[in-house]
Order: sequence, then C-alpha cells, then structure tokens
Amino acid sequence: MYYSEDLIEEVRLRNDIVDVISGYVKLQRKGNSYFGLCPFHNEKSPSFSVSPDKQMYYCFGCGAGGNVFTFIMQYENYTFPEAMKFLADRAGIELPSQEMTAQTRQEQDLKTQILELNKQAANYFYYQLRTENGAHAMEYLSKRGITKETMKNFGLGFSTAYSDDLYRYFKKKGVSDELLKQSGLMNVDERRGMYDKFWNRVIFPIQDVNGRVIGFGGRVMGDGKPKYLNSPETIVFDKSRNLYGLNAARISRKKYFLLCEGYMDVIALHQAGFKNAVASLGTAFTSQHAGLLRRYTEEVVLTYDSDEAGKKAALRAIPILKAAGITAKVLHMDPYKDPDEFIKAEGGEKFQERIDQAENSFLFELSVMEQKYQMTDPESKTLFFREVAAKLIEFDQELERENYIEAVAVRYHVGFENLRKMVNQLAMKGYIPKIQLTGREKKLPEKEDGMKKSQRILLTWLIEYPKLFETVKKYISPEDFTEELYRTVAEMVYEQQRNGEINPAKIINHFEDSEQQMQVAQLFNTTVSVDTKEDLQKAVRETIAKVMENSISYQMNHSDPTDISGIQKMIENKRKMQELAKLTISLS
Ligand code: UTP
Ligand code: MN
Repeated sequence: MYYSEDLIEEVRLRNDIVDVISGYVKLQRKGNSYFGLCPFHNEKSPSFSVSPDKQMYYCFGCGAGGNVFTFIMQYENYTFPEAMKFLADRAGIELPSQEMTAQTRQEQDLKTQILELNKQAANYFYYQLRTENGAHAMEYLSKRGITKETMKNFGLGFSTAYSDDLYRYFKKKGVSDELLKQSGLMNVDERRGMYDKFWNRVIFPIQDVNGRVIGFGGRVMGDGKPKYLNSPETIVFDKSRNLYGLNAARISRKKYFLLCEGYMDVIALHQAGFKNAVASLGTAFTSQHAGLLRRYTEEVVLTYDSDEAGKKAALRAIPILKAAGITAKVLHMDPYKDPDEFIKAEGGEKFQERIDQAENSFLFELSVMEQKYQMTDPESKTLFFREVAAKLIEFDQELERENYIEAVAVRYHVGFENLRKMVNQLAMKGYIPKIQLTGREKKLPEKEDGMKKSQRILLTWLIEYPKLFETVKKYISPEDFTEELYRTVAEMVYEQQRNGEINPAKIINHFEDSEQQMQVAQLFNTTVSVDTKEDLQKAVRETIAKVMENSISYQMNHSDPTDISGIQKMIENKRKMQELAKLTISLS
C-alpha cells in the first residue's frame, strides 16, 4: 500500500458503500441496513447486508465482508492499489503517482516485492511461450488440446532451456540475490550458486483469490522426472490456503464446486465450461482449503483420479469437507484416469452427466469398505454390515440416520428393519463410534469458538452502542482480547472511542490481506438475538463477564506462577467481576 492513511480514508469517505454496492447488487432497505442477494455465493434469500452507518458489508451466509475497498477487491478481483485507483477515479480524486514513505515501504515490502517479482516472472514466462524459443512448448500445449484463449486465461508460459535465463533477466533489472532467494524462483547450491528453479518447462502461474501470482507449477514436456515442479512455500505462497483455479471458480456462480487433483484437470474443465473447478496444489486437501471453499459453496463434487491414490485422497477429503459444512459427492471417472482425459475422450456433455450421477459420499465410502469383505461369504458379509451399522450410528439426527439406513438397505438388498435393529443394538451396547471421538475433539474448538464469539460480540456492540464504552472500559482492556487479530482491532476501537470517533470501516483499511479484512468485518457483525432491553442488558453483562473470565484463565495458563503483579491483577479482575454482577448497564 503506497498511499498515506489520510488519502486512503479520503477515497473511502468519498465512496459511499451503499452507492457503490448498489451498482452491483440490488439492495433493499430493512431497518438500519440494506439487504440483497450475496454476489459471493449462491443463495435464494438475501443474507448480504450493507450498513450505511458502519460503511461495511457483511454476508451472514458466507461470511464475506469488509469495507468498500474489500468489496471492490473481492468483486472485481482487484489488488488493493487497483481498488484504490478504481474508487479514486469514481470519486474524481487524483492519486499522486507514488506516495511512499520509507517506513510504509519497509512494512509491507517483502510481500509486495515478491508479488511484484512473481508478476514479472509470470510475464516473462508468458512472453517466452510466444517466441521462437517457446515454439515446442506451444506445440505441446496445443497438442494437449488447450486453446490460445485458455492459455491466455490461465497465463500459461514457458521457461527456456537455459538454467539461468530468469536469473539474468532479474539481475539486469537490479534485483538482489537475497530477494530472489526468498521468492522461491531460484535454487541455491554451494557448487553452482544461484540459478533458475524452472527451466525447460511449461509454466502454470498460481493465483490467489485476488488474482495475484503467488507461485508457479512447471511441467516437463514429455516423460522426464519430476513431472511437475512447484514453487516452495514463501511469504506469499501458503499451499494449504490456496486452490488452483479458485480466482475464476469463485465467480462462476455455480451451486457446487468441482475438486480435482491437477493443474491440467482444472484447465481442461474450465475450457469445457466447468469454471467451478479447483485443485489443491500438489498437496493434500486441508481443513483450511475446506474453509476457503465454504465461503463460496456448500457442495463439492470430488473429481479425483480414478486410481487407488485418487480414491484414497477422496476418502480423506470427505470428512474434511463434511466438518466444514460442505456436502461431498464423488464422481465416477471410469474408464478414464482424470477429468482431462475424460473431457478429451467424451466431451463436456458426458461429463455433466457424470456430475449429475455423482455418488453420495457416504455410499462411496461404503463401496470402498465393501472391497475388504467377501460378500459371497455369509460371515464376512455380516461383518461388513456390522461395520456399516457402526458407521450409521455416526448420524446423530434420527431422520437422517433412517434415510441412510433405508438407502443402504436398498443398495445391499437387506431388510430395512433388520438393519435398523442392528444399528440400535450396537448403539445400546454403548458402542462408541469413531465419530464420537472426533466429536469430542470438535467440542474443544467449539468452546474456544464460544470464547471468540463473546469477544466478537463485544466489539460489535462497542460499535453499535458507543455509550457502552464507558462501562466496558472499566472491566476490559484491549489486552483481554486473547485472539491476536481481535486484540489489534480492540486497540483501534478503544483508540477511536477515546477520540469520540466511531469508524469501523477505517479500521479495515489497516489490514491488507482480504482474508483478514473479512475476519475484521465479522468482528463488527456478530449478532445475538435478544428480545427486550432487559435481555440485552443481561447479555451485555454476561458477555463482559465471559471475556473477563477467559482473559483470567488465559493469563493463568500463560503466566509465570511466581509473578506477583500478575496474580494481583487476577485478584483485581475477580473483584471486578463481582461488582459487575450488580451493575445496571445503559446502552443509549
Ligand atoms: P498427476 O500426476 O495426476 O498429473 O498429478 P496430471 O494433472 O494428470 O498431469 P498431466 O495430465 O500428466 O500433465 C496431479 C497433481 O499433482 C501434482 C501437480 O499439482 C499435479 O497437477 N504433482 C504431480 C506434482 O506436484 N509433482 C509431480 O511430479 C506430479
Ligand atoms: Mn492428467
């Protein structure tokens, strides 16, 4: 961010959020806010809200949120400087060509510089693919059925056969070795010094949700090994938090996403019109990936390779998706290996048919389980059903469980009642299904989430009921917010309150990462339902108490037991909590 805080604020103030968003989303006023259909996920009834007071938007469905900058970045796929330019133009503000202090530079720099290097490298590779040097790479891609347009959409490129081509290119531009090393674009070894990581490969730039190039994949054009090389993780490239193709998929506006294994699968699918396809980046699918997907969709069709490895990967991904609240289905690819091959052989229409026939993930799990048993042998078959029954207990909603019992009964030709009896007997024997263990593990984060939620609610209230600050500050200081991000935000809220300025949208300016901006938006949009004023007062009291309690226990766990002042502070806090119980709270 090369612009001063004042200038950023001016641009923001001159772009009323309701005005700006109205240009994209049909909004309707409801009380103090406006509501509309969320542009960031598919929905039928409006859960996307825009608050003129807070100058923020927030979607109660998918959690997207932020200020006017965040919106433009998210919607238009812009970087911050691009959003800044867009909104400045819109308001008729002229931006200085580069307003940059040494300090702002240093602060964000490494990230910005590496992103800039990546962009330049991507452009260089892109250019090389289209020169004489890149002719055979171009031929390779064309032979694989990729059109020129698709190559352009994905920014495909080529790294030449010289192992120091890119290195020399950057040296000519005066880029330091140190920066190059941290970019992940170079290898360093004692004997050879520094040289290009990618050479003589077709290059797949990897973009984050905002379209910034964060890393690269490179494929040999033939049978060499390794088939793909990938950038290492860097300060801008976290493989467990990014998915290939997501920047395009998230605006595909399809109800479900396709999750596949490879770069080429994503590309082939997008080219065939399945712009909702994404892939993890040569690594396993993580819960962070699932959380990321959940922002855009509630359903994923797994289109992993049809081999054993692909099946295993699907079995691992299913519970991860489920835990994130995403329904998973499994597509049958046979007789083809992967989506790329399928599309090439059968075309998109046939693929759509397979999507429509994709199998429920539970039934898929059973069909894999079945292979361990000999279904023609009565004993083995009984053992199979016992394992199935144990799995069926995992559904804790009765209706859902019954539906599954029915589906299993139909598929495996056994009596519904018999199977249900087996499930119930097993449950009565106190059989502890595996899920209960994970259920217990889940409890912990739930409690933790309760703590976080109290902190969020308090921050929301401090914005919505400024009067509350007088009371809250007696009991709670920013240090009592135990989440780092929350604490940073609390400090800013307290600062604003002291200056008599309440401006949550400004606080968001301080966070450059759109993921963080969304989290901050969530902090100011946490709701609890209360009916009466008394209920609200009670809720405020309880929330203050919860945040204090949490802070006390946090300190007990993290402080030195011989530290007297820490202990005194705890005693003081306990006393305050007793006082709090008697307090009447005024909100306005
Ligand atoms: P696959 O081996 O299934 O490759 O690896 P693919 O996508 O079908 O590639 P093509 O069609 O042969 O070109 C799936 C993914 O695993 C990662 C890559 O992300 C690849 O897209 N991978 C694979 C690597 O990182 N390194 C490798 O050597 C191989
Ligand atoms: Mn393939």
